[in-house]
Amino acid sequence: MRRGLFISLEGGEGAGKSTQNRNIIDWLTSRGKTVVETREPGGTFVSEQIRKVLLDTRNAGLNATAELLLMFAARSQLVEEVILPSLEAGKVVICDRFADASYAYQGGGRQLGAHTVAAVEQLVLKDLQPDITLLFDIPVEQGMQRVAGRGAADRFEVESLQFFERVRSAYLERAAAFPERFRIIDASKDEAQVWQQVKDTLQAGLGL
Ligand SMILES: Nc1ncnc2c1ncn2[C@@H]1O[C@H](COP(=O)(O)OP(=O)(O)O)[C@@H](O)[C@H]1O
Ligand SMILES: [Mg+2]
Repeated sequence: MRRGLFISLEGGEGAGKSTQNRNIIDWLTSRGKTVVETREPGGTFVSEQIRKVLLDTRNAGLNATAELLLMFAARSQLVEEVILPSLEAGKVVICDRFADASYAYQGGGRQLGAHTVAAVEQLVLKDLQPDITLLFDIPVEQGMQRVAGRGAADRFEVESLQFFERVRSAYLERAAAFPERFRIIDASKDEAQVWQQVKDTLQAGLGL
């Protein structure tokens, strides 16, 4: 039984997900909602351990299928330990990336294809989907410029421009395939303009 609300934030590096996540949480909290914030890969003890493996540049030899399975292993723990119990308790769950990210990064970026991702998704998630997914869409180079000074690059951040172009295209394909669930946010605008879009979208889409 799900009584809460499941919001996922998607998009490439530097799109502004973390920045807008803070705005969303403050806004929902001010409206009396109990918000549970989480992120992927991670969000539980086991999932954070898996995150370290996934992001460690020393694991350059991790193959694409192993990466996909580790992502869904971390996701499975997060769903069971955090997402489902929170939704059952009537809370709002905001997840910084969810299964659509595997379609984008492993399906698109690593070129495993959507069918492969869908097979694992079906095994792990059954029919669990976010109620609404905000896709922060930004030209790849603009996003990269925003995060240029962010410290040492992780195992994804060292990837090529072409990789991130495939990620962006795969995200946009997901949005086109699931128009009821997805809302595309023009993340190239300044922070205040992006927040206005996000707020309008949540108000309209969720009746908040
Ligand atoms: N709309 C925006 N315009 C310009 N810079 C932004 C905007 N939103 C966020 N930033 C900055 O860009 C960087 C990446 O933002 P962040 O929210 O961490 O992106 P993400 O979580 O999607 O990778 C941060 O330094 C942030 O302050
Ligand atoms: Mg972030």
